[in-house]
Amino acid sequence: MRIKDKVIVITGGASGLGLATATYMVKEKGARVAIFDVNVEAGESAVADLGADSAMFVQTDVSDEASVQRAVDAVMDRYGAIHVCINGAAIPTGFKVLGKEGKAAPLARFAQITAVNINGVFNVMSKCAEQMAKNEAEVGEERGVVINVSSGAAYEGQIGQAAYAASKAAIIGMNMPAARELGAIGVRVNAIAPGLFLTTMVAGLDEKVLASLKEQMEAPRRLGDMREFAHCCAFIVENAYVNAETIRLDGAARLRSK
Ligand SMILES: NC(=O)c1ccc[n+]([C@@H]2O[C@H](COP(=O)([O-])OP(=O)(O)OC[C@H]3O[C@@H](n4cnc5c(N)ncnc54)[C@H](O)[C@@H]3O)[C@@H](O)[C@H]2O)c1
Repeated sequence: MRIKDKVIVITGGASGLGLATATYMVKEKGARVAIFDVNVEAGESAVADLGADSAMFVQTDVSDEASVQRAVDAVMDRYGAIHVCINGAAIPTGFKVLGKEGKAAPLARFAQITAVNINGVFNVMSKCAEQMAKNEAEVGEERGVVINVSSGAAYEGQIGQAAYAASKAAIIGMNMPAARELGAIGVRVNAIAPGLFLTTMVAGLDEKVLASLKEQMEAPRRLGDMREFAHCCAFIVENAYVNAETIRLDGAARLRSK
């Protein structure tokens, strides 16, 4: 699918990889973006930077059905279509299966992560796909593209990542059945499993922690550049034969257990 003038919904688009992708899609590919995020200040600042002609922000909690429906309706009112949906919103909170003194972690902590990282992805993907079905098909019968953001943790989760890693593995599981089903309406579904990227949050880590992480990088021996993630999203949108795929974007890095 050609990206120019298309409408791209990006959840978690107010920060990190989502914001870098929104910026890349607007400034280098000529798309219009709709940022769905809980962070109002960051969302509004992103629109100020990208320009109100090419970007909109809707305060959205991806885990809430009514909130996502309102956001999708707002995009349809403003742009009249949704062509691409990139699901980047997630919470990375870590906790162990057994906490202090061997006490089992409260189930509510697990559920909090899956509510955003799994339910949130399904919630936004399904509501966007409903709108994509109405698009006029492009060459090759394409009507839309979904990109769900997984993580290297889905494969080699570290200690303390049982909930986060399980939620990211769910994204990979969703890929094939969703791609098979939505293929009938011309919508492709793919996932990206990023390794470690140099987001503001990661850059702000303690020097020692950052040095230990860098030392675990492989080839190239550095953290990912956020533009490389954005570029991978663009590649998936533009290449009509990439479907039901999970791209590990990690420079061959495999993090240790802690
Ligand atoms: N940064 C990395 O190195 C890395 C590595 C592997 C996977 N990932 C994945 O990439 C994605 C983006 O990560 P990031 O590092 O850019 O994170 P980030 O924290 O910078 O951005 C996440 C955004 O999601 C938003 N968000 C959180 N809960 C939300 C909710 N309920 N509804 C709507 N928005 C919500 C936050 O406000 C934030 O703006 C995530 O899915 C993350 O799991 C990141």
